[in-house]
Amino acid sequence: MTATGELRDKVAIVTGGSRGIGRSISLALAAAGAQVVVAARTENEAPSDSPFIKFASGTISDTAQQIADAGGEALPIVCDVTKSADLQRLVERTVKHFGRIDIVVSNAGVDCESPVVDLDESLLDRALAVNIKGPIMLCKHVLPEMIRQKGGGSIFCITSGASMGYREGRVGYSMSKAALDRAYLSLAEEVREHNIAVNVLSPGRVDTWMNRNGDWPGTGHIPMEQPDSIMEAATWLAAQNAATFTGHRIERAEFGVTWGPGIAVPAP
Ligand SMILES: NC(=O)c1ccc[n+]([C@@H]2O[C@H](COP(=O)([O-])OP(=O)(O)OC[C@H]3O[C@@H](n4cnc5c(N)ncnc54)[C@H](OP(=O)(O)O)[C@@H]3O)[C@@H](O)[C@H]2O)c1
Repeated sequence: MTATGELRDKVAIVTGGSRGIGRSISLALAAAGAQVVVAARTENEAPSDSPFIKFASGTISDTAQQIADAGGEALPIVCDVTKSADLQRLVERTVKHFGRIDIVVSNAGVDCESPVVDLDESLLDRALAVNIKGPIMLCKHVLPEMIRQKGGGSIFCITSGASMGYREGRVGYSMSKAALDRAYLSLAEEVREHNIAVNVLSPGRVDTWMNRNGDWPGTGHIPMEQPDSIMEAATWLAAQNAATFTGHRIERAEFGVTWGPGIAVPAP
């Protein structure tokens, strides 16, 4: 990805920026000139018993270093999106360090793979906390600052095809992503008057720890993409505001085909 400068002077927060899709989005926004806050739970080293080690374990420090190595600017901040105190600190530290917030990418997410008859209640609670409550509480904490700035902005979350269709053994995950879609599309209307775009981006099937860790039966026919495949779509979305593009649930694979630069999409 070459530096484009289209996000110069913008400050972005990316949750789940330690690996996978969130890392690629962080790198893309930084390459486009944004100052990027990389947020997730893993700061320096994944513990030796971490299951992530096997599949390209990631830390927020690694992502920030990769951005710095490429000439960009990043700040790694430890944040568990299920904890309000962490979200509050995330906003405070971002504003203290970079002075503003223009772009928020709610990417952190976890799977919840289990037939309902075997469903462990704590697995479901965790998926709902990370995939629904976290993304909404994140907005609760960033919005006062974004509204105060009066400069508009762009918020988007990373959803899944599971929010729209049946995925075997993944009722809990599907319901969490369907609720996330509805929450963000409703929020788009709530903050339209502040010129803040809110959209929902579906990445397709992506080769990450989450994908490799799951069984995900019935998805084998969907082409597997590398995390970098999201970079262009995420960068364009980050540059939007409510006057240009808001309230849409879009597919990464359709970027440049049904939505994107120069494509008129009717308001929802
Ligand atoms: N891979 C796919 O095929 C696919 C398809 C559709 C949608 N998605 C969605 O894409 C997003 C990214 O997934 P991925 O495939 O890149 O998975 P991943 O490699 O497992 O990455 C998940 C990220 O979320 C972070 N995270 C997990 N729990 C968190 C918490 N409580 N607080 C803060 N950060 C947390 C992780 O960092 P720490 O562990 O360091 O906190 C990590 O950075 C998810 O929302 C997922 O549902 C993925």
